[in-house]
Amino acid sequence: MTNTIAPLLRVTGLRKNFGALEVLKGIDLDVAPGECIAILGASGSGKSTLLRCLNFMELPSAGCVELAGQAVGTARARGSNAERAYTEPELTRVRQRVGMVFQQFNLFPHMTAIENVMEGLRTVRGIARDKARELAGAQLARVGLADKAQVYPARLSGGQKQRVAIARALAMEPELLLFDEPTSALDPELVGEVLSVIRALAQDGRTMLLVTHEVGFAYHFASRVLFIADGVIHESGTPDEVLKHPRQARTQAFLASHNEFSF
Ligand SMILES: Nc1ncnc2c1ncn2[C@@H]1O[C@H](COP(=O)(O)OP(=O)(O)O)[C@@H](O)[C@H]1O
Ligand SMILES: [Mg+2]
Repeated sequence: MTNTIAPLLRVTGLRKNFGALEVLKGIDLDVAPGECIAILGASGSGKSTLLRCLNFMELPSAGCVELAGQAVGTARARGSNAERAYTEPELTRVRQRVGMVFQQFNLFPHMTAIENVMEGLRTVRGIARDKARELAGAQLARVGLADKAQVYPARLSGGQKQRVAIARALAMEPELLLFDEPTSALDPELVGEVLSVIRALAQDGRTMLLVTHEVGFAYHFASRVLFIADGVIHESGTPDEVLKHPRQARTQAFLASHNEFSF
């Protein structure tokens, strides 16, 4: 298949260190519009750090992130691997374009479900209250929670909280959606309702990166699977290649320890 569509996301030479700890050691990744990419890797391998660098909750130490052909930040020196300078207004715009859903939901406890979804619309996008409420209501309906609009997070199940968090991310109309282990904090019986929302988004043609340990879901959901180890993309390919016929020993060992899933 020839791919003439420009990548929605292009990551080159992305590095991130925390002091002496080098977590990401050079990530190169192109994501085409509509691609759904599953990211696997051992705990501590840098999966969350990668996602956080892509929406600039963490600033990359080096390397470049391009969104729809536009590099984020300004190079301080020549070369794609150089450190870059970022301004807050630019990063605010990038965070609108790149939505994130967290393992721990991160809802505001003092706001109802609909207020949580409205918050970014009001404060970041500057949308008037009535219009924001209307848009937020539509997003809650989309994740099957129209009837929970006035409920506070404490009275929602984990699966419902995560669906509110997804509605909140969608309300910003992001071009790219990042999910960081969105079902890991859920009781097993609540995983399915969240995965089915994510599956519907994939079928809508959303561009998504999903960090998950749900290997079975990744197999069916993803157009491509990445296995991260030692701060780099250690293995990547189709779900069949990476999940059924992994070539690297580290990938094989990781999958062997997650063999409770069936395809
Ligand atoms: N803000 C931070 N400060 C220092 N170390 C961090 C920070 N965030 C993550 N790390 C470290 O970076 C490594 C990768 O973490 P993380 O990206 O959360 O891994 P994963 O999501 O794959 O489990 C870990 O060793 C973690 O302790
Ligand atoms: Mg993580």
